[in-house]
Amino acid sequence: MSEKTLVKATTAEIINHWILAVSCILLIITGYGFVFKMEGIYALFGSNTTMKWVHNWTGVIFTFSLAGTLFNYLGEALDLSRDDWNWIKLGGGYLSKKHVQVPPMGKINTGQKLYYLAILAGGFGIAVSGLAIWLLPGMRTLIQVSHLVHNLAFVLFVVAVPAHIYLGTLANPGLLRIMIDGTVPLEVAKKRYPKWMKELGI
Ligand code: HEM
Repeated sequence: MSEKTLVKATTAEIINHWILAVSCILLIITGYGFVFKMEGIYALFGSNTTMKWVHNWTGVIFTFSLAGTLFNYLGEALDLSRDDWNWIKLGGGYLSKKHVQVPPMGKINTGQKLYYLAILAGGFGIAVSGLAIWLLPGMRTLIQVSHLVHNLAFVLFVVAVPAHIYLGTLANPGLLRIMIDGTVPLEVAKKRYPKWMKELGI
């Protein structure tokens, strides 16, 4: 018998997610190269100059891709309710060894909403500061502030992205297929997104 599934992500969302993911990881690797002056990473790209070129233009691709996510997740992420506050109080159930009943969730849970909003704020901060460093080298104070913003946002990405990858793969087997073929088994969907199921009338 064929498995009943629900479409959770559109083809456009899937393609944009992978452009965002690949560009972000490339930026983190090249960013590490700059911060720690790692000759081994320069060598991967040929030289320090080529790595800088790759970093700057990948940053442009990342920025457009991030802007694309506004159409996918922003409405959902800003739709915060009492259930989200209660989810936060319970730490999403992740902080207890015992089974914790978390409030019913919609299409994305509170943690995913917060992750998205953090990536959006950090992403635009890193993009604007990066463009200033790249294009306005003569403006000393602006460049100093931009370096601070760029480095703080970099720390956010280095912490949040590996956590997101872990939660989307090893911690929740079966979730990755949402970002491959866009589907999720109906039974899993009923458990994970009861409020969204209700909206869909399923
Ligand atoms: C390369 C490894 C990555 C994997 C395996 C991965 C996996 C996933 C999965 C499975 C989902 C769907 C979750 C759901 O609908 O319940 C998702 C959603 C999402 N991903 Fe990724 N992702 C990766 C990298 C990234 C990166 C680098 C970013 C951002 C810089 C990112 C941003 C997002 C956003 C904003 C969402 C929607 C909100 C959410 O579900 O958390 N992903 N990802």
